[in-house]
Amino acid sequence: MEKSILITGGAGFIGSHVVRLFVKKYPTYRIVNLDSLTYAGNLANLTDIESEPNYHFAKVDIQDAEAVEATFRQFQITDVIHLAAESHVDRSITDPLSFVKTNVVGTVNLLNAAKGYWQDFDKHLFYHISTDEVYGSLHDGGYFLETTPYDPQSPYSASKASSDHFVRAYANTYGLKTVISNCSNNYGPNQFPEKLIPLCIHNIKNNKPLPVYGKGENVRDWLFVVDHARAIDVIFHSGRFNDTFNIGGFNEWKNIDIVRLLCEILDRKLGRKIGTSEKLITFVKDRAGHDLRYAIDASKIQQELGWEPSLTFEVGIEQTVDWYLSNEDWLNGVTSGDYQKYYEQHYG
Ligand code: NAD
Ligand code: TYD
Repeated sequence: MEKSILITGGAGFIGSHVVRLFVKKYPTYRIVNLDSLTYAGNLANLTDIESEPNYHFAKVDIQDAEAVEATFRQFQITDVIHLAAESHVDRSITDPLSFVKTNVVGTVNLLNAAKGYWQDFDKHLFYHISTDEVYGSLHDGGYFLETTPYDPQSPYSASKASSDHFVRAYANTYGLKTVISNCSNNYGPNQFPEKLIPLCIHNIKNNKPLPVYGKGENVRDWLFVVDHARAIDVIFHSGRFNDTFNIGGFNEWKNIDIVRLLCEILDRKLGRKIGTSEKLITFVKDRAGHDLRYAIDASKIQQELGWEPSLTFEVGIEQTVDWYLSNEDWLNGVTSGDYQKYYEQHYG
């Protein structure tokens, strides 16, 4: 095998799209999906590629340093693309420590395993996937650049910022070859229905209230998940040392406008009278410390690596709704069991 790449969090939303892209596009690479299968990890996301000869799965928790090191040895790992994380801001507000354990300690365990296993650091890459949320909240216009100072505001973004700092510290201190990308909000197939877009699709379908935090004025910059995976491919292969890239969709939306758009699309697709689903919109108590606006300036990756989104939001969101409507089994599977408990605890 030309490379043996450890993709962590490959059973999750973004990770599964990255695993699929790499398994299909690079048959000469061994792709090892390391995932502990938390509530957010689901091997059903990968059924179409699970029997490919270059795909392997390792059920490992990144909090377990010994198991991570053993995986490096077992699969002779040459490179890492690290996505495994606790990823939901609301959960980080109720349980910050689990975010420290996975996002910070887990990342340091992976860095230590790479540092201990690799001999010539120039021949290997540790690629860490991060978020634009590390930059904090934009209040007076402008965009996040790669040079914007870190200013995380939620326990989730604080844990991701911390892990980014550790990655840079390992490059600076030990000479590990690392790269980091910070991406805006993703949407698309296979996203767990706790995040805004799939939660609304699920609730509209089932005639349940659509909880909009505060006044719905907060702004997010949405990118189709497959375009994020394409960006990760391009950055991974650019092979630059200790570099960083912002990835975004040039696509800002107020939450309330997204929710209204989803209502309209689903009314149309479900054969309901236009305006029916909007009645489900319910303004609820705002998220604690809710960041007002995120917006990425993605010119660096565009100009230096030639990446840009392949889809407009209008096309991507239609495809996403179609995917959820035609994958009822997936949606029913992930919303059974503990999901109901989470939903009731969070939304009452
Ligand atoms: P997700 O919650 O859908 O998936 C996370 C995956 O990590 C799951 O498969 C889960 O089982 C696994 N995981 C969690 N804890 C683990 C542990 N201790 N050991 C091993 N595996 C573990 O998350 P996502 O939305 O796909 O995000 C993936 C990455 O991208 C994260 O690092 C996140 O911070 C980053 N990111 C996400 C977004 C977004 O909009 N979702 C945007 C920018 C960056
Ligand atoms: P989310 O999908 O949780 O992503 P993030 O917090 O990482 O940006 O939330 C997107 C936006 O939608 C955010 O401003 C919070 C808001 N939101 C709601 O208004 N209602 C909801 O039920 C959820 C989950 C989010």
